Amino acid sequence: MSKLNEDTVLAINNISVCFDGFYALTEVKTSVKRNTVHFFIGPNGAGKTTLLDIICAKTKPTSGTVIFYPKGREPVRLTGMKEYKIVTEGIGRKFQVPSVFVNLTVEENMILSLKGHKGILDSIFHKPSKEDMADIHSTLKRVGLDDRADVRAGSLAHGEKQWLEIAMQLVQKPEIIMLDEPAAGMGKPETFKTGEILKEIKKECTVIVIEHDMDFVKQAADIVTVLHEGKMLMEGNITDVLADKTVQAVYLGRGGE
Ligand SMILES: Nc1ncnc2c1ncn2[C@@H]1O[C@H](COP(=O)(O)OP(=O)(O)OP(=O)(O)O)[C@@H](O)[C@H]1O
Ligand SMILES: [Mg+2]
Repeated sequence: MSKLNEDTVLAINNISVCFDGFYALTEVKTSVKRNTVHFFIGPNGAGKTTLLDIICAKTKPTSGTVIFYPKGREPVRLTGMKEYKIVTEGIGRKFQVPSVFVNLTVEENMILSLKGHKGILDSIFHKPSKEDMADIHSTLKRVGLDDRADVRAGSLAHGEKQWLEIAMQLVQKPEIIMLDEPAAGMGKPETFKTGEILKEIKKECTVIVIEHDMDFVKQAADIVTVLHEGKMLMEGNITDVLADKTVQAVYLGRGGE
């Protein structure tokens, strides 16, 4: 595995995925740069979620590799690794379905998420350190939940739950965080706030996002990769992507905007 240029945190090399003769992805090749917000967009069934499944080793590709370039460490081949190991390597993923403990407070959910804490029992017997607590509160602040620390997660608004989940990923200090439709079900103000959160957190990690809301993409994207029927249609900044005739024909004209 050769060293790429310093900026690359993830190299996706010619990934193809075949499910029973159907290609969900065909020769997808791109690289994700450190400290950027990188969007994957495209119509339903384009292969976006499948690509995240490949990155986190939930799905094995038919061919191709994904290489992670952690800061100050040797490159790591993610394809072929065990899924649980990917997290310990420094790659976090927030799924579409919220997975917070509704009966615990925001702060307790954060404690459970701390690296090294293996579950509820462990967090009862090993109290988090002062530093951990300071870290939890500064992370909550970054997603705008610092004044909600003592609230039961179950009574948070939909948007706040999503932000808590982002904070639960962040407190583990990932180098890459992956979000599948983080603004789904949100109204305009919450979606906007989510965009601002992504721009804030990219200072410390790389953000890979799938999203359909084009205003949200415009607000937060550094780079956009457009997928269509499992193939890469184009990649560039949002202005170029929106101006592209093919993108307009296959995606924007069909409810993408
Ligand atoms: N495990 C699987 N077995 C068979 N086919 C699958 C599997 N997972 C995904 N597919 C198919 O692969 C294609 C890509 O699916 P994927 O979920 O990656 O699309 P997507 O871009 O995330 O779409 P959406 O915007 O609807 O979430 C779809 O046609 C889907 O039905
Ligand atoms: Mg999807």
